[in-house]
Amino acid sequence: MKVFWRLAGYLRPYRGAFLLCLALVAVASGLELFKPWPLKLAVDQVIGKAPLEIMGRQIDYQTLAVSAQLLIAVGLLLFAHLGVGFVQLLNNYMTIRIGQNMVQDFRRELFEHIQRQSLLFHQQRPTGDLLYRLMGDTYAVQTLLMNGVFTTLTSSVLLAGMLAVLLKVNTTLTIYAMGVVPLLFLTIAKVSKSIGNLSYETSTRESQVYSTAERIFSSIPLIQAFAREDEERKRFLAESQLSFDRKLYLYSLQTAYGWLVGGLTALGTALVIYEGVTQVLSGALTTGELLVFISYLASLYTPVNNLSNTVADIRGSLSKAKRVLEILETHQEVKEAPDAAPLAVKTGEVRFENVSFAYDAGKEVLRDVNLVCPGGAMTAIVGQTGAGKTSLISLLLRFYDPQQGRIVIDGQDLKTLTLKSLRRQSAVVLQETQLFPISVADNIAYGKSGATREEVESAAKLANAHDFIAALPAGYDTVLGEKGANLSGGQRQRISIARALIKDAPLLILDEPTSALDAETESLIMEGLDRLMTGRTTFVIAHRLSMMQRADQIVLIKDQRIAEVGSFDELMNKGGEFARLHALQFGKPRRAAPAAEPASPGAQTLLV
Ligand code: CTP
Ligand code: MG
Repeated sequence: MKVFWRLAGYLRPYRGAFLLCLALVAVASGLELFKPWPLKLAVDQVIGKAPLEIMGRQIDYQTLAVSAQLLIAVGLLLFAHLGVGFVQLLNNYMTIRIGQNMVQDFRRELFEHIQRQSLLFHQQRPTGDLLYRLMGDTYAVQTLLMNGVFTTLTSSVLLAGMLAVLLKVNTTLTIYAMGVVPLLFLTIAKVSKSIGNLSYETSTRESQVYSTAERIFSSIPLIQAFAREDEERKRFLAESQLSFDRKLYLYSLQTAYGWLVGGLTALGTALVIYEGVTQVLSGALTTGELLVFISYLASLYTPVNNLSNTVADIRGSLSKAKRVLEILETHQEVKEAPDAAPLAVKTGEVRFENVSFAYDAGKEVLRDVNLVCPGGAMTAIVGQTGAGKTSLISLLLRFYDPQQGRIVIDGQDLKTLTLKSLRRQSAVVLQETQLFPISVADNIAYGKSGATREEVESAAKLANAHDFIAALPAGYDTVLGEKGANLSGGQRQRISIARALIKDAPLLILDEPTSALDAETESLIMEGLDRLMTGRTTFVIAHRLSMMQRADQIVLIKDQRIAEVGSFDELMNKGGEFARLHALQFGKPRRAAPAAEPASPGAQTLLV
């Protein structure tokens, strides 16, 4: 019930249109009830020459010419049928429109909610499952309110109307006609529950097939490299088959159910014909009235059947809606304070104060980190793989919030700032390069909306990417494959550097920006980066010597803590952990900045 009322809330903006639909239903039901009467007029009055009485008033019908009488009957018949059709058309258009709008609202809310969630949330949820909830399960709001509530209302109105008319015409016959209705409802109650459960199961299975396909397609290189195509195909087909089996069962059940309902209706009709003909023979009923009865009975099936499906629909869509609400009720977003102010960067000084952070409770990745990064200075963060370097800068971007301590930029606690202003003023190269399947130029311009082609090109030149981009089939307009698939790792990385460069932000955060580049390309880019870093507070995670030597300070992370801080020379002279790791990688410790760099790019890599 809670879910139901929650969903009913989505109808609110459309309540005017919904009321109009209800009015249309009343008109359609009236016309539907009127449908068999012209036939009665033709049989009883035109053929049978019986006097016509409407609501107790005698109508002078027989004085008209027979052809006129017949034309009136036929005209009314056409009017009723065309009228019902037209009103239904209008009604369908309106209800579908309202329904689609509600789905769109529901979807928008879910989409915005998912987009707001922290990276932790996204790491825990399979993308395929989220997609299915967004694209498939959101339809529940339409099914529930339109197929469920609306059908219940319309069918009930129609049933009540028929009952009223039938009772007025002939009580005994009505009792016969309605005799099967309780039986029908009983069947419905029994079978629809199984149908409801089964259709929920079917969509859960479908969702799994979806997730599996998504997982397989996004890991094609891995699957091919390990020659696991057969296993994955079998897994996919097995899941798909399971879903089909359930569906086949569902369809069979639905058909059998239709057959049962049809049989019961036929039984009702048989009873009515038996009793009705007896009454016509005895003169208690006219032939026309019997025809009205029989045609009502035939259309009795529709509202009763609709009502029956409704129960299953409501059940099914409630459980689907629950899957959506489950996500909407999860709050893992990085919260913005209600009175959050925009970040105002002055010098760009960044401080970490007693910061402790864990992805999973109890397993700290960073413990009691204290660090001052002077405005405009470059800080290199080093440490073994898994030490927490990426985690540290993720905190600075507020991808996550630390459990303890605070991070302050120019005296402003990150938690008091708007997320947008913080991220707008940070240019980032992520450790894992991410590109969109759009043109190269658009990928670069993603860093700055409305960037001109000149800006894009000059950023690309700084990132030493211009030459290879110009050599692409359509140059800057070359559309990339999924995740930039048609580029090399180093080319992708250079585009992502250009994307950060074009942003022109006071905070620069580079997570191993040159890891995929050879020494020569790197040194070409360094010139561009150097120019860019001046005057900006820069964080670089680096394994490369060249980067470390450029830095104003080097921060070494070890055992969840900051083990050493200082310039390259200070740390080397100190002879501590940094010097030890340096020696391990590059041979004997050097005291000052080296004159020449090691020859091979591989040997330049520290601490991998
Ligand atoms: N970790 C985690 N959940 C994540 C990301 C990381 O539990 N979503 C853990 C990792 O298992 C690792 C630690 O956090 O032990 C630090 O990860 P990270 O900051 O990414 O390490 P880096 O120092 O950046 O390592 P690398 O050089 O390999 O990038
Ligand atoms: Mg990392």
